[in-house]
Amino acid sequence: MCGIVGYIGNREAQGILIGGLKRLEYRGYDSAGVATLNSTGELTNIRAQGKVAQLAELQVKNRKTDSIGIGHTRWATHGAPSVKNAHPHTVGRITLVHNGIIENYQDLKHILVDKGYEFQSDTDTEVLAGLIDSLYSDDTNLLDAVLGALRLVVGAYGLAVIAHDTPDQIIVARSGSPLIIGLDDEETFIASDASALIGHTDQVLYLKEGEVAVCKAGDVQLYDIKANPLSAAVETLEADMQAIQKEGYEHFLLKEIHEQPDTLRATLAGRLHLDTMTASLGGINMTAEELRAVKNIVIVGCGTANYAGQLASYFIEQFTDDISVRVEIASELRYRSFHVADNTVALIVSQSGETADTLACLGELKRRGVRCLGIVNAVGSSIAREVDGGVYVHVGPEISVASSKAFTSQVAAMVLFGLVVAQAKGIGAKELAEYVQELDRLPFEIEKVINTVEDSVAHLAKEYASYEHALYMGRDTLYPVALEGALKLKEISYIQAEGHAAGELKHGPIALVDDSFFEVALIADNWLYEKSLSNLIEVNARGGHVIAITNSQKPIEAEAVVQLNTDLTVFVPLLFNVVLQLFAYYVSLERGNDVDQPRNLAKSVTVE
Ligand code: M6R
Repeated sequence: MCGIVGYIGNREAQGILIGGLKRLEYRGYDSAGVATLNSTGELTNIRAQGKVAQLAELQVKNRKTDSIGIGHTRWATHGAPSVKNAHPHTVGRITLVHNGIIENYQDLKHILVDKGYEFQSDTDTEVLAGLIDSLYSDDTNLLDAVLGALRLVVGAYGLAVIAHDTPDQIIVARSGSPLIIGLDDEETFIASDASALIGHTDQVLYLKEGEVAVCKAGDVQLYDIKANPLSAAVETLEADMQAIQKEGYEHFLLKEIHEQPDTLRATLAGRLHLDTMTASLGGINMTAEELRAVKNIVIVGCGTANYAGQLASYFIEQFTDDISVRVEIASELRYRSFHVADNTVALIVSQSGETADTLACLGELKRRGVRCLGIVNAVGSSIAREVDGGVYVHVGPEISVASSKAFTSQVAAMVLFGLVVAQAKGIGAKELAEYVQELDRLPFEIEKVINTVEDSVAHLAKEYASYEHALYMGRDTLYPVALEGALKLKEISYIQAEGHAAGELKHGPIALVDDSFFEVALIADNWLYEKSLSNLIEVNARGGHVIAITNSQKPIEAEAVVQLNTDLTVFVPLLFNVVLQLFAYYVSLERGNDVDQPRNLAKSVTVE
């Protein structure tokens, strides 16, 4: 979703800002812009609809040596993607970039229009610029004007503001949308996402909710909304350039699919103990007694994180006999009247740690006194900071908008939590050892699947890439995998794809089977094999174009079959999922789509 960068120092700001915006491209956007000020306060604001590359072309014609500036990639909310709606927005002496939504912007706009302000764009952001300008008089400094405006707005913001008559400072503010400040000797960097800071500095300060900062070259001063000074805690950013480069892969998604054996190993490292055949989690901050008392788990997330939760719920209920797990879509839960039973632990699942709906549920659950644990990837993100404890999944930056390695490790992290609870509740040593051994082998098995099926899946993808509709079906643990596989395909190929519980097909979806559809049948070699096969046969009988994916060695009649050779039994759904990731990738490639930045999507959905 929208991205913010800022720079103040002794070098040319334009290039640094555009470089930063390129790093934020993966978040998804539809226009971009950068504004810089020279030492006399003259503003250069260049904006382009489309990609940052187009902005970079404009910059060549408008090159400035200014050493202070702000930049933005916009994902349209108020007003269509266009140059006039692109940030930065200037009103009077104020230029700003903004992530989030100002909910009362219409009311504020009416007040400002009555005062004589005119607005060029359809955005809420331009109104905010007008509001700050209206409060920025000769006897008010910029900080007071920004604080005054923020006290009047309702909504969410991550904000970077410059004023034309004070070209030595950038004011940034955070409420509901993340911002990070990077510090070096004589330079200060601002970004909404740490990936834009990598390579510039590793000394960073995560702005907390409600904080406002005055950034000068190499210096920052923090305030609360009432202008009280706050102390700043600078941390070391632990990420490197290697992690945000494609390393020879054509796309980040393909790289991230291939990384899964290693990223999964990173999730399990230090948490799975083969010597004692046990699992442990350092960051959940729960005693054995507290773990024993857990009776209910509620898992909250959006999109892929929700499907990871659905899959994990099957495993966790298998490990214990007195825990019930429910999985909630965050955007639904936050507005529903819901009840949480006693002895509930919430698992808040998010790769980015910034998803607005998930964050809102975290707040609501905490307000009800529920212990909330994060299953998060982005270190230092909002969710990671606000939970009572949690498990970092440690998969490194996930750049492709379509999530892959995060899903696998989110499931693994929740499985670890399930095992830790089961241990506290006295799971048998033999059963526990089986789970531990399988989990330990999972990275190797994923590697094997990628090595053995990638070529044939790529070939298959070519054959099915021209369809416009697809049905994915699976039973038991393969049902959430069907949902996730269908999501992956629709996100990056734009093929309409639906996931279903295979047993539900005859209750409706089977009516869709015709020549414009293909079907993906996930068939596990387990006690449900015959039932899954029957569902496939029913589709075959109606002339379906079925791709069967199975770990059974028995022959299956289908238009195409992908065979997995593995002796895993419990965690085998994660292998099926890797096949579906590869399939979606190669279909998207074949259709010539922008694999890593699919249309209309954002990596980090920071507005609801
Ligand atoms: O950062 P989060 O895990 O909270 O993101 C949740 C969803 O927005 C995300 O999983 C989305 O569905 C992906 N595009 C899926 O590939």
